[in-house]
Amino acid sequence: MSDLDFTGKTVLVVGGSSGIGNGIAHAFRTRGASVHVWGTRATAADYADEEGSDLSGLGYTQVDVSDFDAVAAVKPAFDALDVLVLAQGTVLYKRGEFAMDGFQKVMDVNLGSLMACATKFHPMLKASSGSIITISSTAAYHATIGNPAYNASKAAAVALTRTLAVAWAGDGIRVNGVAPGLVDTKLTRVTTKNPERLEATLRSIPAKRLGTPADMAGATLFLASPLAAYVYGQTIPVDGGLILS
Ligand SMILES: NC(=O)c1ccc[n+]([C@@H]2O[C@H](COP(=O)([O-])OP(=O)(O)OC[C@H]3O[C@@H](n4cnc5c(N)ncnc54)[C@H](OP(=O)(O)O)[C@@H]3O)[C@@H](O)[C@H]2O)c1
Repeated sequence: MSDLDFTGKTVLVVGGSSGIGNGIAHAFRTRGASVHVWGTRATAADYADEEGSDLSGLGYTQVDVSDFDAVAAVKPAFDALDVLVLAQGTVLYKRGEFAMDGFQKVMDVNLGSLMACATKFHPMLKASSGSIITISSTAAYHATIGNPAYNASKAAAVALTRTLAVAWAGDGIRVNGVAPGLVDTKLTRVTTKNPERLEATLRSIPAKRLGTPADMAGATLFLASPLAAYVYGQTIPVDGGLILS
C-alpha cells in the first residue's frame, strides 16, 4: 500500500470550502479518504457558482470559526478523525486591519480559531494518533505593510504549530504546517487580477509562476503521511522560492 493512500482515514479541512483548503480536501479525497470541510456559507449549494470551490464528494458544515463558542458547540459529522487541516484564513484590505475591530477579527479567524479547532479535536486525534497541518503563510517571515493582523497572525500560527507539536507529541499527535507563497484564490484576487501587481510579484518568484492549491496539497499530504513520521513542529514554505529572493 502507498504511504500516500488515505483509504479508511477521515480528514477535516477547516476552510476547505474554497481555494487552497478545497484543493487539499480533494487531494485527500482522491487518495481514498472520507473528507469533510467547514466554511462560512449556509449550504454546499451556496458555493455552486464560486470559482475555486468544488464541494462534490465532500461533507460540508457551516461553522464561523471566529465564534469560538460555536466551534466548541458544533457536533461533528464523524466519530473519528485522523487528519485535521486548518486552512481557514482572512485578510482585510484598505487599512481595515489598522482599526482594532478589523485587527481582532483577522486575529480571531487566522489564529484564535486554530487553537479552538485544535483543542476541540484533540481527543479524536489522540485516539487515532492523528496529525494536524496548519496553513500559515510566508507572510510569517517578512513584513506586510498594509496588513498588521495578517502578518502577526501568520507568524503566531508558525509559533503555535511548534508549541502544539511539543505539547501533544506525547499524545501521539504530530503537528506541522505549510506556509504558502502566492496562490490565486479569492483571498488574493486584489493582486492576481491586477496585471501590474501580478507582474511585479512574478518577477520576485524564482519558479516564475504562482503556486496552486495542488502545490500546497503535495506538502500537506506528505506531512499527514507516514513519510513524515519523524517531522514535528515544522512549517514548510511552499512558495516557488519567494522568500529566498
Ligand atoms: N492564497 C494565497 O496566496 C495564500 C498565501 C499564503 C497563505 N494563505 C493562507 O491559506 C489559507 C487558505 O486561503 P485561500 O487563499 O485558499 O483563501 P480562500 O479561498 O478565501 O479560503 C479561505 C477559507 O477560509 C474560510 N473562512 C474564512 N473565514 C472563516 C470563518 N470566519 N469561519 C470559517 N471559515 C472561514 C473560507 O470560507 P468561505 O469559502 O465560506 O469563504 C475558505 O474556506 C488561509 O489561511 C490563507 O491565509 C493563502
